Amino acid sequence: MKRVITYGTFDLLHYGHINLLQRAKKYGDYLIVALSTDEFNWNEKHKKCYFSYEERKHLLEAIRYVDLVIPEENWEQKLSDVKEYHVDTFVMGDDWEGKFDFLKEFCDVVYLTRTPEISTTQIKQDLQK
Ligand code: CTP
Repeated sequence: MKRVITYGTFDLLHYGHINLLQRAKKYGDYLIVALSTDEFNWNEKHKKCYFSYEERKHLLEAIRYVDLVIPEENWEQKLSDVKEYHVDTFVMGDDWEGKFDFLKEFCDVVYLTRTPEISTTQIKQDLQK
């Protein structure tokens, strides 16, 4: 079985997220989403989520492409996740292009093109207009 992992916040789930998850799943049979916790978002990414971790997790678990959701609690856990979950392919959006090439020693690393013109930040900004 080929295992794929990806990381993110996935707040206000939108079609850019779904496109990413759909394409990520095509690299294997089992897709793990490491979902940023509320604490990690706030302390490290300086993002306040609309939906809580449990709510975002619940939404992701309802998506047919997603097999497992685990917490992303720090920047350093990627290598240990790749080893612990026997990951074959690490997938990120190309906003992170090149940033995780150090994992290539342990698995394939793929950066997928972002879906244009949609993001959680954009949705929040548009709703404030
Ligand atoms: N993503 C994507 N296309 C988009 C938006 C997000 O492919 N239009 C991907 C990101 O590259 C990442 C994953 O979805 O791999 C989760 O992204 P996240 O940062 O949670 O979503 P954004 O909508 O980019 O949120 P924000 O505006 O808060 O950064």
